[in-house]
Amino acid sequence: MLRFGTQGADGEFYELTLEHPGSASTAWQNWKPGQFVMVRPTAWEHNPLWGRPFSIHKADGDTLSVFFQVIGRGTRGLARLAPGDEVTVWGPLGNAFAVRDDRPTLVLAGGIGIAPFYEYLRRHPSPDKLRLVFGHRPPAESYPLGIMEKYVKCEAYREKGPEDLKAFIGLLGDIVPEYATDGHIVACGPLPFLKTIQTIAAEAGGRAQLSLENRMACGVGACLGCVCEHKDSGPVSVCARGPVFWSDEITF
Ligand code: FES
Repeated sequence: MLRFGTQGADGEFYELTLEHPGSASTAWQNWKPGQFVMVRPTAWEHNPLWGRPFSIHKADGDTLSVFFQVIGRGTRGLARLAPGDEVTVWGPLGNAFAVRDDRPTLVLAGGIGIAPFYEYLRRHPSPDKLRLVFGHRPPAESYPLGIMEKYVKCEAYREKGPEDLKAFIGLLGDIVPEYATDGHIVACGPLPFLKTIQTIAAEAGGRAQLSLENRMACGVGACLGCVCEHKDSGPVSVCARGPVFWSDEITF
């Protein structure tokens, strides 16, 4: 476990690396950035009952990493795992971000929404077409930006107050229209961030791919605990139909 934090306290950030005990299933040979996993330590027994969903941050051979912030009981428990503890993982689950190597691509990340983009940037066939814009509140050192900058320079904007937020929304207003119509946009982050991107893209007559971070329980479409409103299909499970949707497919 790579600890950005130290004690499993709320607000701290962690990269948790898991090793498969045997050989990972063949599904892991074909996984794609944007997909997610459900993670549940064996020691939890029946409490909490459900695992926790995480974007796949890194996956290479038989190891898998997730990057998370401690925000409650489940993530607190994960932050306190020790080397050798057993964890059950379901995945890879869900769909993935599209890769358009023929178009300039804007990668928009808000806070912990940076997690799925390490592998997206690393695997992209045309790194010269990528632009990464990252909005965050905790200090930049809380996030794994250094390893991403091997692939593309990160334009990071920290929100310390309302003026910073206003400026960041202004920046999105300047850059999203062009990429939403003549390029490609992939985005992950908190709901207000995704809504802003959706609105700006729609006003420009374009669209973006948004990864939704709805709360999940089963992770496989069985409990209806993660639904969003799809314009054509009505309520759909984010875990089974997403987590990545085109911005003009869904209503928030
Ligand atoms: Fe159960 Fe999505 S988490 S349906």
